[in-house]
Amino acid sequence: MPWDPVRLNDGHSIPDRFGTWKLGNGQSSVDQVDQALSVGFSHIDTAQFYANEEQAGIAIRESGLARSDIFVTTKYSGVGGLDIETSVQNSLKKLGLSYIDLYLIHQPYLALPDIPTTWKKMEALKDQGLVKSIGVSNFEVYHLEILLASAKIKPAANQILLHPYVNARQAPLLEYCAAHNIVVEAYSVLIPVTSQPGGPVDAPVNSIADRLGASADQVLLAWAKAKGAVVVTMSTKKYRLEGYLAAGDLLLTPDDIARIDEAGAKGLKQNHAFAFMRRLALVALAGGAALGVCGYLGIDLF
Ligand SMILES: NC(=O)c1ccc[n+]([C@@H]2O[C@H](COP(=O)([O-])OP(=O)(O)OC[C@H]3O[C@@H](n4cnc5c(N)ncnc54)[C@H](OP(=O)(O)O)[C@@H]3O)[C@@H](O)[C@H]2O)c1
Repeated sequence: MPWDPVRLNDGHSIPDRFGTWKLGNGQSSVDQVDQALSVGFSHIDTAQFYANEEQAGIAIRESGLARSDIFVTTKYSGVGGLDIETSVQNSLKKLGLSYIDLYLIHQPYLALPDIPTTWKKMEALKDQGLVKSIGVSNFEVYHLEILLASAKIKPAANQILLHPYVNARQAPLLEYCAAHNIVVEAYSVLIPVTSQPGGPVDAPVNSIADRLGASADQVLLAWAKAKGAVVVTMSTKKYRLEGYLAAGDLLLTPDDIARIDEAGAKGLKQNHAFAFMRRLALVALAGGAALGVCGYLGIDLF
């Protein structure tokens, strides 16, 4: 298998990665998960918020795979204002499972009334055997500091946004997680080809892809793997899913990774400059409109 299992700090392992975020919740969602399992993925990543746990459960049952051969992640998303204890029971029912492999707090702001109280509830779920591993998502260093100060059980994973354009910003978080033996799961790794094509990362990624006879998305997945992350990705297309699995064999050199990192950092600066110009333009527009209204009303401002 090209993507090696990743061992968590509680002794369990994550086999590989597949997300279900954009699959919707109809029959097509069942088919997509089904397709991923048949191609060889064995980790399904879903969440209360995605509203497709039921479909993921159907696909898991239809796959005929043994429960022990599938790794299921789902997340507490605070849907319906329900507490963690009720939410996890609902997720188990929807998935049709007796346990969840990895249960995450979807966002730090869902940890109410505070992180230590919420984490105690997560620890209780693990003690009761309802979930094998517990973790978090979108937690920054300071959230983790608060959590670790009172935790009996460390989070096994932190699922975060990671792609070359946010790499510099996320680097301290990656270091902190590594130092505390918390596995980083990376989502939206393919942003440079999906929603931000045409940026500075394209040149190194495309030239590395040409050299290796690979596609740009495969190079990006290999880049995230080189950062030590478990990649959570998805595709509706079988050929891409097969390509994602094959990307586990791509070996990027330290120079390849440095070139992608450098280009990503440039993109970040460009994004900041773009955001500044956009804000400036909005202020100018608002000012112009205000002057126009004052003129219309006969108000003399000067
Ligand atoms: N914890 C969180 O807060 C959080 C947030 C976001 C996502 N996630 C998880 O992470 C998973 C992946 O998220 P994501 O969808 O943002 O990840 P992604 O891996 O960056 O993107 C996957 C998308 O890339 C498209 N794609 C792949 N190669 C492409 C190419 N060469 N050109 C154009 N499009 C291409 C695929 O479309 P096709 O279907 O057309 O192949 C698919 O829609 C989600 O399903 C979810 O489970 C978690």
